[in-house]
Amino acid sequence: MSHPHLPIDEIAATVRSIWPDNPAFGVVLGSGLGTLADSITAEATIDFDCLPHFPRATALGHRGRFVCGRVQGVPVIVQQGRFHAYEGHSFEHITLPIRVMQSLGVRTLILTNAAGGLRPGMQVGDVMLIEDHINLLFGRSLPVHGSAIGEPRPADGSPHYDRQLMSQAEQTGRQLSERVTRGVYLALSGPCYETRAEYRMVRNLGADAVGMSTVPEVLIARRAGMRVLAMSVISNVETSDIGDPVSGEEVIRTVSSVEPVVRSIVHAIVSVSGVLSTHPGH
Ligand code: HPA
Repeated sequence: MSHPHLPIDEIAATVRSIWPDNPAFGVVLGSGLGTLADSITAEATIDFDCLPHFPRATALGHRGRFVCGRVQGVPVIVQQGRFHAYEGHSFEHITLPIRVMQSLGVRTLILTNAAGGLRPGMQVGDVMLIEDHINLLFGRSLPVHGSAIGEPRPADGSPHYDRQLMSQAEQTGRQLSERVTRGVYLALSGPCYETRAEYRMVRNLGADAVGMSTVPEVLIARRAGMRVLAMSVISNVETSDIGDPVSGEEVIRTVSSVEPVVRSIVHAIVSVSGVLSTHPGH
């Protein structure tokens, strides 16, 4: 999927000149999950500053580089730090890393984020697999309206989230005796966390968790035909009218403590799917 206005091929060529492998898996690390990159056998780290025309990551807890390497011998590219609408980034810039990953050969994308939990019974530290989303981030579901960029519109309402990958993630959760649930993620642009009234509103709209990212990347990954797993670490639960508002630092602290669970899920999926994809008879 080339794009007439974005220098995807040039960026991908720069990555390839530093790390010539063909990663079939891409991973996007959300707030507080950056340390997951330490668990891959790194062969190259590429700061976003080194890539032509690439935006800079400025959000709290987002480092701003690709870590390229292997998980159980399977080549993987990890985006350590993402771009958000609240930093002033456009839909095009937020999703640029995904288009670059696609150009490098990524076929399966695992996205992670921190989110506020809304469904009664949710607990801080739960991992919620996103099974559907409500997109209130940009008020549109493609980078540019209509077919102005010369790309066909995908089927409306096509299923975005891969059921087999969700089952694998749940299986890892069971093996670890960790809480891994499924739910609907609603994306708002932030950057402030919601008011009590806003939490009530998004719950009433049908969301189980609320955050400020992921949906644009999912939409572009699906247009590129990738399999997608997306998971939220529930960093705060907003089911009552009492309690102090959460802070960004607390969110990062809480999410970091759940990183080993997310790490296990990522490793399990890459090793199982990586083996299957290198043995086409399966
Ligand atoms: N709202 C929006 N984004 C978030 C939250 C929240 O409560 N927690 C972590 N990211």
